[in-house]
Amino acid sequence: MSELNLVLLGPPGAGKGTQADRLRRDFGLPYYSTGIILREAVENGTELGRKARDHMDAGELVPDDLINDVIAERFDSGDADEGFLLDGFPRTIGQAEMLEATLQSRGRELTAALLIEAPDDEVVRRLSGRRTCAKGGHVYHMEFDPPKNDNVCDQDGSRLIQRDDDKPETVRKRLAVYHEQTEPLIDWYTDRDLLVRFDGRRSPDEVNDRIRATLATKRLEAEL
Ligand code: AP5
Ligand code: MG
Repeated sequence: MSELNLVLLGPPGAGKGTQADRLRRDFGLPYYSTGIILREAVENGTELGRKARDHMDAGELVPDDLINDVIAERFDSGDADEGFLLDGFPRTIGQAEMLEATLQSRGRELTAALLIEAPDDEVVRRLSGRRTCAKGGHVYHMEFDPPKNDNVCDQDGSRLIQRDDDKPETVRKRLAVYHEQTEPLIDWYTDRDLLVRFDGRRSPDEVNDRIRATLATKRLEAEL
């Protein structure tokens, strides 16, 4: 079976984490969310967390060299040797170049960049109702995708919390940063024939069905 090397792209609140939850279960891929890694580092007070915290609270990106090191470590560990799912990385052209060089140096390539699209007003609505689990980063929405029991994660029973950067003014800043610094990756991956677009306004299950269909086709093509 050919390996799946995937990145999830899209604005804040488009549903990257929501789809990642489902894809992890479907395909058992090692999952790296740079947002989750950074929030854990902040909570544990590590050097990475101390350097990242102010950028994150302001809704800005952390510097490329900081986050590139985090990803390089994951590849060096060998855990991603048989496929991976990256969520929230790359987010700048510099990060995309780093990923491309890392894969090339190992004789590997990306399978697809999965772009989940959602308009700004939908993003604001979603992030105000989002809850995430304190342990595994599983994602819920109080209205659109509620947990079975209030404030408890269905998957691991841990407490559900609201993220610090989901305040409306920080969400607006994150959206502006996305349009300016991350959107150029759409052309970058289109040029490499890797971009696949998904309408993030559909329900989580519908988006998941479409992503799975795309990946099934990609795998068939790779095996021909
Ligand atoms: P990160 O944690 O990656 O945040 P983000 O990209 O802003 O994206 P979100 O996690 O907010 O949204 P999502 O697309 O995962 O949506 P979700 O599935 O939760 O990054 C946080 C910060 O870390 C950044 O601002 C930056 O500072 C830093 N950082 C991270 N990576 C970096 C990098 N590479 N370089 C530099 N800095 C970096 O869904 C949202 C809500 O909508 C949920 O409540 C969900 O239940 C609901 N929902 C999802 N799908 C649907 C649907 N189809 N219909 C209805 N509701 C839905
Ligand atoms: Mg997320």
